[in-house]
Amino acid sequence: MAGRIPQSFIDDLLGRVDIVDVIDAYTTLKKAGKNYKGLCPFHSEKTPSFSVEPDKQFYYCFGCGAGGNALGFLMNYENLDYVEAIEKLAAQVGMEVPREESSVAQQTREKNQALYDVLQQSARYYQAQLRQHPDKQRAIDYLKKRGLSGEIARDFALGYAPPGWSNLLEAVGTDESQKKALLNAGMLIENPDNKKHPLYDRFRDRIIYPIRDNRGRIIAFGGRVLGDDKPKYLNSPETPVFHKGEELYGLYEARKNTRKLERFLIVEGYMDVIALAQHDISYAVATLGTATSTNHLRRLFKLVPEVVFCFDGDNAGREAAWRALEQVLPLMEDGRTARFLFLPDGEDPDTQVRKVGNAAFSKQLGSATQLAEFFFQALGEKVDMNSLEGRARLGKMALPYIDKIPRGIYHQLILDQLGVITGVDPARLSAMGSTSPAPPTAMDTVSVRNRPPARKRQIDKSLCMKAVNLILLKPSIVATIGEEDELAEIEAPDIGLLLQVIALAKQHPASSTPELLGRIYATPLGSQLTQLLNREQITPTEGIEQEFREILAHLLEGHRRRQSHHSFLEEARQKLHSRRNEAPGGENGPE
Ligand code: GTP
Ligand code: MN
Repeated sequence: MAGRIPQSFIDDLLGRVDIVDVIDAYTTLKKAGKNYKGLCPFHSEKTPSFSVEPDKQFYYCFGCGAGGNALGFLMNYENLDYVEAIEKLAAQVGMEVPREESSVAQQTREKNQALYDVLQQSARYYQAQLRQHPDKQRAIDYLKKRGLSGEIARDFALGYAPPGWSNLLEAVGTDESQKKALLNAGMLIENPDNKKHPLYDRFRDRIIYPIRDNRGRIIAFGGRVLGDDKPKYLNSPETPVFHKGEELYGLYEARKNTRKLERFLIVEGYMDVIALAQHDISYAVATLGTATSTNHLRRLFKLVPEVVFCFDGDNAGREAAWRALEQVLPLMEDGRTARFLFLPDGEDPDTQVRKVGNAAFSKQLGSATQLAEFFFQALGEKVDMNSLEGRARLGKMALPYIDKIPRGIYHQLILDQLGVITGVDPARLSAMGSTSPAPPTAMDTVSVRNRPPARKRQIDKSLCMKAVNLILLKPSIVATIGEEDELAEIEAPDIGLLLQVIALAKQHPASSTPELLGRIYATPLGSQLTQLLNREQITPTEGIEQEFREILAHLLEGHRRRQSHHSFLEEARQKLHSRRNEAPGGENGPE
């Protein structure tokens, strides 16, 4: 791992670049007053609503809500993480990114660098064999038979490890340090008992699939036999630079080949990823022979709001889908989607896309099963839904899973759906569910087991912010709101902000988003909102009004429930009190 980048460097870098120059390289900007305007690179539009403010070194799109500084722009536009964006920006102005590094970290980095170097050399060697080895035709024929073009083979850097025990050893293991690095990178196998080949190539007579990390560095290989020998696939072992459980095959290629990734398709095999890319579906990734983990999914959700799991339609496929569902539940924050595509028996994505083509496959993808539907379907198969007892059992089974979903609208919607299915009031179900300790979520990283009120407030806060964001996207949605008085009674941070924005939007009913923002920037609310918009990621294009209504309904319902609970207690107290008055000196004397 490279060391930390000093904050002072980042400040210095941001001080040196001008956001106008950075963005102007991607979309043409025109001066408008003291700011610059242009067509938004994040959504398609005909009239410019994208604005760059040199004073604040900040950009904002009135159309889609995207906003941030120069680093944020690069992260968004180029699908980069924070460190990658810093590196890119620094390279643009010719600055070297310094690292704060301990001497141990430095040694590790140097050692790892030797592995990256020989892995890169190995990949080049295998690629060259596909062009020049006397046996190359077998390998080329195999790839052709599987429907791959030369371009796709190049994009995925496919290669060929020729037959023989020491091809790579001789080509790349040119001295002792090279040999040692090859051994540590898992490319050679050592066996002192083998007198003829005490050190030999791991990959022999196989098609080679290089595995790349986020930055495109080769970290491992997969190798497939050309015929029916066993094992069909051979993978690099765990090494200091390759951790199977964390990597996703095809992720680097997907990010490289797709301008703006919207979703990932998660498949099982190398060939699935490649065959899909061959058919222009270049956003598939595969785990490397392990099950999909929450870790994998977290990485994907950093880049896109949607994942689609692809499985066989058979029993094993459905079981694998259920395990994937368990992994994805803790990540289902509002705005994210997970779906499941079940293929016909005996097909995998490779055979399927080759059989039906891009259009039909994309269509199947478009109608993949929603997480909630698969969830209730799978549970429903385990009980008799026609009996009251069966439905109650379903409720009991479902709750621990639903409990894993971060608190928000999606959580509430699934709970509501469970209520409809089981015929039990969701509030009661929810109360039953909360007796089990809730797993930590992104919203509350501290344990909330004994602190339900704090948790509640956090949720409402995030809901209020979402509501504000929705109004900014579509100011007219406030027209039908009449519950301000009641909203004002709710105790939640940011509810005040929400009410102010509602009031402002109501005062200027015909405002468009830019006008409304213009008005807000002129008030003290302005800077608060800039921060809010910076943080808020969700920018839906449809269903804005409905989502807004749902948020308000949720806020109000929670409030009303607390109110009725409160008045119930109040009534009970008064009853108790009057009974005491009727029977002075009774066993329950005054406190
Ligand atoms: P083909 O289409 O036959 O090339 O294979 P595939 O890409 O469809 O793979 P398959 O569905 O058979 O297996 C899925 C994944 O499991 C592969 O991409 C490998 O990562 C892994 N795998 C399959 N067979 C083996 C094996 O024999 N050994 C190891 N280590 N992994 C395997
Ligand atoms: Mn296959």
